[in-house]
Amino acid sequence: MVEEIIKKAENFFEEGKKEIENITDEELLEKWRIKFLGRKSFLNQLCTDIPNLSKEEKIICGSKFNELKKNLIKLYEDHKNKVRKREIKYNLTFPGRRFFTGNLHPITKVIDEIVDIFHRLGFGVAEGPEIETDFYNFTALNTPEEHPARDIWDTFYIDKKNNILLRTHTSPVQVRIMEKYLPPLRIIAPGKCFRRDSFDSSHSPMFHQIEGLMVDKNIKFTHLKGILTYFIYEFFKKEVKLIFSPSYFPFTEPSAELSISCVICSGKGCSTCGNTGFLEILGCGIVHPNVFKNVGYESSEFTGFAFGMGVERLAMLKYGIDDIRHFFYNDIRFLNQF
Ligand code: DAH
Repeated sequence: MVEEIIKKAENFFEEGKKEIENITDEELLEKWRIKFLGRKSFLNQLCTDIPNLSKEEKIICGSKFNELKKNLIKLYEDHKNKVRKREIKYNLTFPGRRFFTGNLHPITKVIDEIVDIFHRLGFGVAEGPEIETDFYNFTALNTPEEHPARDIWDTFYIDKKNNILLRTHTSPVQVRIMEKYLPPLRIIAPGKCFRRDSFDSSHSPMFHQIEGLMVDKNIKFTHLKGILTYFIYEFFKKEVKLIFSPSYFPFTEPSAELSISCVICSGKGCSTCGNTGFLEILGCGIVHPNVFKNVGYESSEFTGFAFGMGVERLAMLKYGIDDIRHFFYNDIRFLNQF
């Protein structure tokens, strides 16, 4: 009986010796320690057989166990030093450690998705500066001097004397593109915009818009309706109702706002749509002749439409997000869901 117990204990020791050789980091070494030296180790389990042995056998068995345990401790201590000093070279045949890759921010993803939809309709991507002049942001867009958006309480001016500001919308990109290129034009312009709003569940002083512009001969409101209807269906992948209602923007005439039946409650009425069953999604219209004049286009020859939409709002509706601030907290638990 005693030989058998000792044999088992020795086998256990050999196993420990073999396993420790391959260990290269402290985490695995700790697992080894628990298995071979822990309270519930196989060696300690074997000890429960000792009381059944004769007196001499107990002595033989006990001293053998102590010897093995001491050797295991020595193996452990020696190996721990080596791991600490990184003396052990990694075994290149080991599987790699899994590491976490990041993913694109949900706003970037939604922008990519929208750009992709408009690509299929032949729209190219244009970009403009986030630091703009009063001319591109307002004047060239036919915005009158006394318009409230120009107020210092609505716009971040960087240098008021020299009319340098943070663009309040992506519409100035329209002007920059038209100054540079002649029609026909079909572009969308995604990017950051800034307004002097305090953070709350639906406002952020920095947000994203996507501007759209199409100029050619004979462009009519029906083209605008067709393009936006296609876009809404492709983006939400849902049957939604669209309503174009009259509105005002200085740079379009006529101007409209597009509302869609609420994608959260399917038009029944909920807190997101303020119980109206509809949501305002974007502003749009036929480009004002004064804007064409400001960029040197002949408005007797060309017509065009434009639109502008808020990316955060579209993303919130698509994914059922109830607070715009989630996009900017950088909480990995939120960001990982997209
Ligand atoms: N720039 C407008 C805003 O920020 C949105 C907009 C409305 C853009 C009508 C357009 C347009 O191009 O035609 O509120």
